[in-house]
Amino acid sequence: MASPASVAAPAALLRLEGVEQFYGQKIRILGPIDLEMREAEFLSLVGPSGCGKSTLLRIVAGVLTPTVGTVRMGGRPLKDVNTRAAMVFQSFALFPWLKVVDNVAVGLESRGLPPRERLKKAQKYIDLVGLSGYERAYPRELSRGMKQLVGLARALAVEPELLCMDEPFSALDVLTARTMRELVLDLWASPVVMTKSILLVTHSIEEAVAMSDRVVVLKANPGRIADEVDLRGLPRPRRPDLPQVRETVDRMYALLA
Ligand SMILES: Nc1ncnc2c1ncn2[C@@H]1O[C@H](COP(=O)(O)OP(=O)(O)OP(=O)(O)O)[C@@H](O)[C@H]1O
Ligand SMILES: [Mg+2]
Repeated sequence: MASPASVAAPAALLRLEGVEQFYGQKIRILGPIDLEMREAEFLSLVGPSGCGKSTLLRIVAGVLTPTVGTVRMGGRPLKDVNTRAAMVFQSFALFPWLKVVDNVAVGLESRGLPPRERLKKAQKYIDLVGLSGYERAYPRELSRGMKQLVGLARALAVEPELLCMDEPFSALDVLTARTMRELVLDLWASPVVMTKSILLVTHSIEEAVAMSDRVVVLKANPGRIADEVDLRGLPRPRRPDLPQVRETVDRMYALLA
């Protein structure tokens, strides 16, 4: 029988090995990056504008193949679009000609679900984000906050193992953003939501500290990992006025300076 020490650790959910992205032949915009994400982890990426956060997310989503290096999902190298991940965008990226329900269901057809199941699944996540009653509305009839709820429901509806979010709250007003952060944390903790791992890109240190298990700090030119902060010891919920939370935010600002 194998002793505990010889039992292999479970494969990381996501693993980037020596990932580099070039623009043209000579300009390296990102990397080399080595990064691992555990199952059920909430990981945030922070860093200055242009350091390659969105590029990194596109690589993880499999819509961009890195010039150098390997991306692994559950140990297996990613070869194409990452069907185990879904994305929420800052600009919502909804289809204006589709009703809410069809926007939410949009990813389900390619995953082979029959129409009835698609509708059921879409409705589940519409209800979970609090948009019940707006199924037949078009994006133009919705506030920005509601549009982002559609974006969130659409991403969750495919029940990805990994939810990627690229500055999902920065196009929202302060109060709406706060409500949405709380919603995302509630959904992350909810047993009826299948998605358990979140990779968040944000400009906001306060947001990263309020939400994450771990924060990876990037620096620019080329985009590299500058630092990493483990926040698992910081109790939740992390109200911004709690001394421990404020100290952590201050420490992170000092790191970035
Ligand atoms: N098509 C392109 N051509 C040339 N450079 C590009 C191209 N796309 C991205 N870049 C460069 O890659 C770098 C990383 O861009 P990226 O959008 O990933 O950064 P970011 O961290 O997401 O920035 P922001 O915080 O502003 O969203 C930038 O320096 C940018 O100039
Ligand atoms: Mg970006």
